[in-house]
Formats: sequence, C-alpha cells, structure tokens
Amino acid sequence: MTNLRLAVLASGRGSNLGALMAAQREPDARFEIVLVAGDKPEALALRIAEEAGIATLALDPRGYADRARFDADLFARIAAYAPDLVVLAGFMRILDAAAMAPWIGRMINIHPSLLPKYRGLKTHERAIRSGDEVHGASVHFVTPELDGGPVISHVEMPIEAGDTPASLAARLLPLEHRLLAATVDLIARRRIALAGNRVDFDGAQLEAPLRLAGRSLAP
Ligand code: GRF
Repeated sequence: MTNLRLAVLASGRGSNLGALMAAQREPDARFEIVLVAGDKPEALALRIAEEAGIATLALDPRGYADRARFDADLFARIAAYAPDLVVLAGFMRILDAAAMAPWIGRMINIHPSLLPKYRGLKTHERAIRSGDEVHGASVHFVTPELDGGPVISHVEMPIEAGDTPASLAARLLPLEHRLLAATVDLIARRRIALAGNRVDFDGAQLEAPLRLAGRSLAP
C-alpha cells in the first residue's frame, strides 16, 4: 500500500499540523504531508512546515476578485501536488462549493465540538452556555454545508464546574491532536470512506461516529 499523500490547510498556529507531522514520523505511519497551504502568509503553521522541509503555499485572498476565484486557484495549486487527502486543520475560511466539489470524499476537517452540535464558531462558549456536561471534537468529511458533512470520529471529554471557554479549549486541544492523527491513520489504511452521505468503516456503514479511546478509534 503506498503512503497516503496529504495536503494540510491551516490559517493559524498549526498545532494540529504539528500533531500530524509527529504521527508521520512514527515507524508504521502510512501517510506523508506533501504540502501545507494557507490563506495567511504570516501563519505559524506555514513556518512550522517550512522548517521541517515540507512544501508550503501561501495565498492571500486579498489578491483575488472574489472567493470563487481564490478557491479555484487554491485547489488548482493543491491538485498539482496530487494529494490523496486534503486536511483542513484550523483553516478559517468557508469554501466555494464549485471549487471543493471534486474533493468531496477526499477532504476532512477537524472541528472543536461534538457535531452536529455547534457548527461554526465559539463552540466552547456555546457548550458551556447550554449547560452541556460533555464536550469534544469531531473529524468530518467536508461538504458545501459548513461543518455539516458526515462525521467520521468523535472525542469526548467532561465539562467541569468552573470551566471557561479558554479552559475547555486548552483541555480539548491535545485530544483533537490525537483524534486527527488517529482518523488520518485509518483513512491512510483505506479503512474509512465516504459513501453517499454516510461513512463506511471497514466496508460497513457507520451507525455513529467512531470514538477515540486512548490513541485508537473504534465504533
Ligand atoms: C482547532 O481548535 C481546530 O479544531 C479548529 O481550529 C483550531 C486550530 O488550531 N478548527 P491549530 O492551528 O491546529 O493549533
């Protein structure tokens, strides 16, 4: 089985990218990051990739007439690296439906909530305000609906008395890292696939997202 080629898109500090880079260094890793692309030329994520000798691409949306043209150029340039999978790891842009269409089933996103709860922003604050006892993160296939594509995997953690959005975010982040690495690993082993609007795991439709326990994912 050849290594899965990953393109990672990030707008920010790149800690999820860092987790994938660490996972890639494991002896039994089945994937390699062939490109890190971003919409913020100054993003730390791009520096981290450069320092590791990974190809980077920084495209500034301000140089384009509209979202459709930016996204078309971005994905054309990504395609030149022939990735098998595009990973949105803190990529803070809504994607143009036409530009992303060819990537449906080959693009995933990490989102800091237990989807379908709390699509969009301020997920930690919304979980606390709703009185939730459990919070978490999701990895899902990307579709034109924002944070709305089929969910592959969840990691859960309790919300404790006195938690703030910042404390939740800090406690969740290391779990996000493990969730993303474990999910990419399963995709690299060809054990996960998008089938219509459902997710197949080992050839059978998933009834509920896989759940992270320790470092591994299971139904
Ligand atoms: C993560 O919380 C991710 O879930 C969200 O954006 C954040 C990115 O963090 N979509 P980082 O840039 O990977 O550190």
